[in-house]
Amino acid sequence: MTALRFISLKRCQRCDMSALFTPLRVGEFELANRIVIAPMCQYSAVDGCMTDWHVIHLGHLALSGAALLTIEATAVVPEGRITYADVGLWNDATEAAIGRTLESVRRWSAMPIAIQLAHAGRKASTEVPWRGGAQIPPGDANGWQIVAPSALPYMQGEHPPEALDRDGLTRVREAFVAAAQRAARLGLDAVQLHGAHGYLLHQFLSPLSNRRNDEYGGSLENRMRFPLEVFDAVRAIFPAERAVTMRVSGTDWVEGGWDIEQTIAFARALEAHGCAAIHVSSGGLDPAQRIPVGPSYQVPLARAVKAATRMPVIAVGLITEFEQAEAVVGTGDADLIALARTILFNPRWPWHAAAHFGDQVKAPDQYLWSQPRRYPDLFDIGH
Ligand SMILES: Cc1cc2nc3c(=O)[nH]c(=O)nc-3n(C[C@H](O)[C@H](O)[C@H](O)COP(=O)(O)O)c2cc1C
Repeated sequence: MTALRFISLKRCQRCDMSALFTPLRVGEFELANRIVIAPMCQYSAVDGCMTDWHVIHLGHLALSGAALLTIEATAVVPEGRITYADVGLWNDATEAAIGRTLESVRRWSAMPIAIQLAHAGRKASTEVPWRGGAQIPPGDANGWQIVAPSALPYMQGEHPPEALDRDGLTRVREAFVAAAQRAARLGLDAVQLHGAHGYLLHQFLSPLSNRRNDEYGGSLENRMRFPLEVFDAVRAIFPAERAVTMRVSGTDWVEGGWDIEQTIAFARALEAHGCAAIHVSSGGLDPAQRIPVGPSYQVPLARAVKAATRMPVIAVGLITEFEQAEAVVGTGDADLIALARTILFNPRWPWHAAAHFGDQVKAPDQYLWSQPRRYPDLFDIGH
């Protein structure tokens, strides 16, 4: 098992540096600050292939000053897409399309880039969100037969998934491995496995969606088996010096479902298997969920995982303000914070945060003239 190496770098030359802008080393990986761009589906791919939209979207986020950019949920097989417009990484065409995007983005940004590898399981085959997001049954245009741990639909009345048999599990695991090999070839800096939001790996974890009576269902140990097998298989083939991480839902927010105690057990198992970091989100498995949405609403889940493990923990969810983010990292609730909607709304959020705290960010040469006079040291112009 890969030994965990998690070293908080010294507070550089300046002792007044904010926690948010203190660099962090995760294994071989050095992050310039504690701000991560969360994965965000764009539903703008064609046959799994990224389009010009992804160059624009990822390109502008790569100029934001965050420490790490995470590419959206990327399906490892076509039937693992949430929608027909999801990005994939299952053949040469989808790999080449990501390659073209990365070539453009990397020409202008040195920001490390991770990819989230995913399979949507029973939540696959839906319409894109801005057209309602409803399930598309097999046989209809843009629809297909979905698979899951058990033949239980996400919503009552939906076309049910087929339960994966032994061969099906092997095919899914091998698809994650093949996609991770392609990710390695693309030079991506890290792989995040999507074990959250009610998608396939989470469907195995939760007793609400996993009703199997073989060794992949029942006890917590059995429910964790398939996600851990996928993790191990990906970890084994992805270059050892690059991180493999997992995103989890800390709770289903449903009585009798996946909860924080089980998440901690899973996090400990992942850590023992060489997981480089864990990203703690929540929900998405069951329409009966009742989420107490509000600022930092998922931070207590991250804090609980942080208290029980040694690997870096990423908190996410309605973190919108600079001091709020600073408090999450500064009090030790989590090592990193991730931004999704906030950074879409304000793509230079990290620049503004650095200005607020008197810290520094990298800015592209073309934009150096934009440095406000009142922040004469904002841009780190060391090449
Ligand atoms: C447009 C959009 C797309 C998203 N796509 C993904 C995704 O591909 N994978 C994932 O794990 N979460 C996805 N999420 C969830 C976010 O990563 C994040 O966990 C959530 O939005 C809460 O963070 P926020 O309050 O900063 O937006 C998406 C969120 C948004 C807004």
